Amino acid sequence: MSSNNESVKKTILVALALCLVCSVIVSVAAVMFRPAQAINEKANMQMNILQAAGLYDPTKSIQEQFQIVTTKLVDLETGLFVQNVDPESYNQRRAAKDPTVNRVLSSGEDIASIRRQAKIAKVYLVENTGKIVKIILPVHGYGLWSTLYGFMALEGDGNTVAGFGFYEHAETPGLGGEVDNPNWKALWVGKQIYDGDTVAVRLVKGGADRADAYGVDALAGASLTSRGVDNLLKFWLSDSGFKPFLDNLKLGQI
Ligand SMILES: Cc1cc2nc3c(=O)[nH]c(=O)nc-3n(C[C@H](O)[C@H](O)[C@H](O)COP(=O)(O)O)c2cc1C
Repeated sequence: MSSNNESVKKTILVALALCLVCSVIVSVAAVMFRPAQAINEKANMQMNILQAAGLYDPTKSIQEQFQIVTTKLVDLETGLFVQNVDPESYNQRRAAKDPTVNRVLSSGEDIASIRRQAKIAKVYLVENTGKIVKIILPVHGYGLWSTLYGFMALEGDGNTVAGFGFYEHAETPGLGGEVDNPNWKALWVGKQIYDGDTVAVRLVKGGADRADAYGVDALAGASLTSRGVDNLLKFWLSDSGFKPFLDNLKLGQI
């Protein structure tokens, strides 16, 4: 009897049956949890947007807090709002890979090392009594090991930093990963972006003068990540990024 159960044929059959059962369980779980995963991903992104703008309160529901934020789409070239695309279903990362709706950047223009850019970008606006009080812009670019994705939040003047932070990157913890350090992120608040028409905000190796309206300390021991952050901001806040949109806002043209 025992010798029968230990036959090679039976061992293989049991192993196959076990594999089949496990793969069915994993597949069913993956399909079942997909809607919950999508809801959590959306809430996580909303939390990052609120955090960047300094508006996040962990004691309140994210969904409730996000009601003050309006998501809009902007044509980066004209800086005008796009009306005929639904902002909720628009996927900017997917659009950046689609040749019908992206723009391939020349090496001279591509200082953020992203190669391709979606022609339409998401922006998040917070209004108070009809006046825009916060403008939250998605930005991304290459650091040392990875593409860093984050949000630059500006005050309603389109020039003063309300907050800045990344929600996705693979820089080294303790080195480039210090982009997530709350003390470093706090240094950005109140800094100015533009000096006239030039993007003047920058990272300063060895530490910025506290009185410098445009300078923020570069990350110690992480010059390459710092350069990546500096470059991605210069790109996204220039004419290649959100400057036409911010100019339109400042001139009251949208
Ligand atoms: C394992 C390892 C991980 C590193 N990770 C980073 C990083 O995430 N970001 C970065 O800028 N430099 C990183 N560096 C350091 C760079 O190689 C380089 O030395 C550094 O950017 C120089 O910065 P400093 O001029 O401020 O010293 C890493 C080095 C090693 C050995």
